[in-house]
Amino acid sequence: MQLNIVDDYDALSRAGAALMADLIAAKPAASIILATGETPMGVYRELAALRQRAQLDASRLRIFQLDAYMGLGPDDRRSLYGWMRRSFLDPLGVPDASVVRLPGDAPDPEAVCAAYDAAAQAAGGIDLAVLGLGPNGHLGFNEPPVDAAAPTRVVALTPASVESNARYWGGPDDVPCYALTAGMSVLLAARQTLLVVSGAHKRAILYRVVAGPITPDVPASYLQQANNVTILADKAAWGE
Ligand code: GLP
Repeated sequence: MQLNIVDDYDALSRAGAALMADLIAAKPAASIILATGETPMGVYRELAALRQRAQLDASRLRIFQLDAYMGLGPDDRRSLYGWMRRSFLDPLGVPDASVVRLPGDAPDPEAVCAAYDAAAQAAGGIDLAVLGLGPNGHLGFNEPPVDAAAPTRVVALTPASVESNARYWGGPDDVPCYALTAGMSVLLAARQTLLVVSGAHKRAILYRVVAGPITPDVPASYLQQANNVTILADKAAWGE
């Protein structure tokens, strides 16, 4: 696990984009698990700027959606797929057909979760997982406590996650109580992981992720044992 501390959010965004651009240049058809949330948005904007300058071709990527709220179609304003489309797929020129979705409105959510894990296997594994850090240490919606072997599945959100996601959608009543998430087993098997962490509100949990025990109570602490993990944090999230 490599911890890179950079000055601020802009530096984090540039460094994250550089890491992703290197991977894409080396493997244009890479399979990437992609987070939404606020933290990676700057990284995606930097990548879009590279594409506009014709310095990046992301059109052959295969993208795996990290997580989704249960019961929402792709056009619901709260859909995480919609957020990914606006922030990454459209600006980077990745067609919908290249995305392995977690459709929150599927009639049989367990079946789509199993299909997701099968698709990751069929793709030869995940080359890169781009992740944010939940305030309770979750990755995707792998809420604590979680087993490292947990598959992609339906989960109930903890009150802490409903609260922290409420700011995106107006209030806690607008946040669905269930979600689909890529499982810890899929995330931990990725050949490379980029975890982006910004802001003083993440400081206590980031310290536990990096320096605390590996424990089901801090899902991201399992990254201590994973392959080729880069944590990019700004000074606000780590301290001077
Ligand atoms: C959310 C999402 C995650 C996201 C994380 C951090 O609850 N389920 O996919 O990575 O929390 O979000 P943010 O980057 O906005 O802090």
